[in-house]
Amino acid sequence: MKFSDEFLAELIERNDIVDVVSSYVNLNKKSGSYMFGLCPFHSEKTASFSVTPSKQIFYCYSCHKGGDVIHFIMEAENLSFPEAVEFLAKRVGMEIPREGMDETSKKRAVLLKLNKDAARFFNAQLNAPQGEGARDYMLSRGISRRVATNFGLGFAPQSWDALRRAMKEKGYSDYDMFEAGLLKKGQKGGFYDVFRNRLMFPIIDVRGDVIGFSGRILDDSGPKYMNSPESLVYNKSRNLFGLNLAKKSKEEYIILAEGNIDVVSLHQAGFDSAVASLGTALTPEQARLISHYKNQVIIAYDSDTAGMSAAKRAIGILEKLDVKVKVLRLEGAKDPDEYIKKKGPDAFRQLLSGSENQVDYRLRNVFEKYDLSIDEQKVEFLKEATDMLSRLPGSAERQVYAMRVASMTGLKDDAIINEVERRRKKLLSWNRKKFEKEQTRPVRQMQPEDRELRYENPQSAVAEEGIIRLLYLDPALASTPGLPEPEQFSSQVLRRIYALMRERIDRGEMLNNAALSAELSSSEMSLLVSILQRPEDLSMGSTALRDYINRIHEQNEFNTQTLDLRDLTEKLRKKKGV
Ligand code: GTP
Ligand code: MN
Repeated sequence: MKFSDEFLAELIERNDIVDVVSSYVNLNKKSGSYMFGLCPFHSEKTASFSVTPSKQIFYCYSCHKGGDVIHFIMEAENLSFPEAVEFLAKRVGMEIPREGMDETSKKRAVLLKLNKDAARFFNAQLNAPQGEGARDYMLSRGISRRVATNFGLGFAPQSWDALRRAMKEKGYSDYDMFEAGLLKKGQKGGFYDVFRNRLMFPIIDVRGDVIGFSGRILDDSGPKYMNSPESLVYNKSRNLFGLNLAKKSKEEYIILAEGNIDVVSLHQAGFDSAVASLGTALTPEQARLISHYKNQVIIAYDSDTAGMSAAKRAIGILEKLDVKVKVLRLEGAKDPDEYIKKKGPDAFRQLLSGSENQVDYRLRNVFEKYDLSIDEQKVEFLKEATDMLSRLPGSAERQVYAMRVASMTGLKDDAIINEVERRRKKLLSWNRKKFEKEQTRPVRQMQPEDRELRYENPQSAVAEEGIIRLLYLDPALASTPGLPEPEQFSSQVLRRIYALMRERIDRGEMLNNAALSAELSSSEMSLLVSILQRPEDLSMGSTALRDYINRIHEQNEFNTQTLDLRDLTEKLRKKKGV
């Protein structure tokens, strides 16, 4: 969607970044023009997240996310650019210019409304006479009326066109329903209801929109679930079943289960932070979404081997985001639902509080790989286990688990502890060497966080950044004689940003984050904000600018000279026949 500059400027003006951020982050007035708080995008103990009210931008010195208020909402609410704009417009009661709404957004709005109406229809069916079978099924699974209401459960009747007829009456076309994944096309070209005789679980995103459905059969014949296909409004790898409720939980952790029934059953037993990935293995996007709300996850997957290997993969994904992970071992039950039914909520709560941390879990996995009664395998086990433990940061932790390994293998505690520490030393010295090597690489710090955007010529890039910063602060400087052309910038990304700015200035258009952010990717925007963030003395603007300009011209000359030299050497070499 293309929004006008005027609209975006007003949107940003009315959504003061301090106000908006304050409902997510506790901001403290700290140094001069910045305010600081704990970054909502990664877990941390010291505040490295800053907001600069005068520039209306945020920037995290630790995870390097940054941008304007729109980007903040994109990150915080996991929304696309137009969605974030919508969100902020709603927040201050601004009307989105209709003509600014493109076909796709209009279609999205229709599909969301259709899904909501469909969910209402299914829900009404559940309470009607024909819903008796589904109500009985719910009863047999121990799902209460109250929880069914919280989740908005419903029933799709045994009919080829019940939903289709009901939605037609509300004015939706077959094609709308087809696009929402509610109808399928038959062989003769007619449409028919996708969900029939199923218990319906609406999939509701964190904004409360119904984006799709998951329908379970009422017995155990044939494929258990039917899920909505991906659509304009539904992306299964970016959503989690139950997160709309779990995000409001007071618990510090999210419980990650596999099945819809598990989630419903957990909520019913009082574990209101349970979610399930939508019939897929946990994706990085889902993990990121979770990390926006909680920084601890307790995995309660099915206890079969598929569940266990899915858990292992989920641990890796979550740990990358600094999310703490624990894994439950549901002894004697196939899934959390069955566990609670068999042993009760208290037993489950106990399991939660005592659940293994990932070291235990990983150690056990290594343990289960080998047969320790065979000497060769025992050696392999020791190698793998001590290597794993040597990577634990805490020495007490290393000792405790080393002792565990000792008792697993029947060897002496000291022997294992020493081996772990020996490996630790080796690891540290290797890391130190690597670090020193990196340190001696010059101008390392000046590189953008995103590796894709790396500068080839950091000396020149610093000056290019400076020009961008000054122009942004004072577009009038664009008339400075000798200002380089975008092509003279050495860095591609800076060239792009600079060209965009120059074009806007030339056309007399506004030069604010919003105008630029619509045209820049998230990582480009983060880079731009990190550039703007650096201090610049405007009173020295034109002097500094000249300085930057000179530097860029010097670098350009330097580059041509080196090129010439290379050419020359090449020629000489050829002449000599080397
Ligand atoms: P119960 O076994 O009845 O307790 O159901 P459950 O909700 O616990 O589901 P289960 O653990 O068997 O499956 C986990 C998830 O995988 C479900 O929530 C679905 O999203 C998905 N799934 C299960 N069966 C099917 C199927 O037959 N087709 C598809 N497409 N997805 C399925
Ligand atoms: Mn299950």
